[in-house]
Amino acid sequence: MNKPLLIESRITEDVVFGRNVKVVQPVNIYGCEIGSDCFIGPFTEIQKTVRIGNRTKIQSHTFVCELVTIGDDCFIGHGVMFINDVFQSGGPARGDKTKWKSTTIGNMVSIGSNATILPVTICDNVVIGAGAVVTRDISMPGVYAGNPAKKIK
Ligand SMILES: CC(C)(COP(=O)(O)OP(=O)(O)OC[C@H]1O[C@@H](n2cnc3c(N)ncnc32)[C@H](O)[C@@H]1OP(=O)(O)O)[C@@H](O)C(=O)NCCC(=O)NCCS
Repeated sequence: MNKPLLIESRITEDVVFGRNVKVVQPVNIYGCEIGSDCFIGPFTEIQKTVRIGNRTKIQSHTFVCELVTIGDDCFIGHGVMFINDVFQSGGPARGDKTKWKSTTIGNMVSIGSNATILPVTICDNVVIGAGAVVTRDISMPGVYAGNPAKKIK
């Protein structure tokens, strides 16, 4: 009988935490920086090179991939998916990180549950609706929703 290689999800030693961070396990967090007074909910994965500012809340089941930066005082809802590989060559980059793209989220950005964030830049003071798919940079504060996300307010 074959046995799979089992790898435990965990928080690795190289994660840099600010003061007073609360993490609800299980999580898989490695090689990233998380600011002070943050909350990280269960079943989240936060990958290496990610930087999260102060007082930002990441709710359960969210995936924050490499090359994502999130500012201060943000709220990232449940099951939010960030993307760095847009399959630019017609399929996954298969480890070729030169094909990955970065995402920058400003301060005071709230992202509703189940939103998908392609590699974009989002300015400060933006609300993204639940289930939105953000495909383009957002440079004006406001409320954005839908697929593709458009300004609704
Ligand atoms: C986007 C959002 C902030 C807008 O809230 P609001 O300002 O009260 O907006 P309204 O409910 O008045 O809706 C305005 C219009 O946008 C539409 N709309 C609202 N939310 C939407 C969404 N997530 N996706 C697509 N359309 C949406 C409404 O159907 C309405 O359309 P209509 O004018 O054609 O009837 C809110 O609906 C939302 O998605 N919040 C996310 C909450 C969340 O995920 N919280 C996580 C913790 S539980």
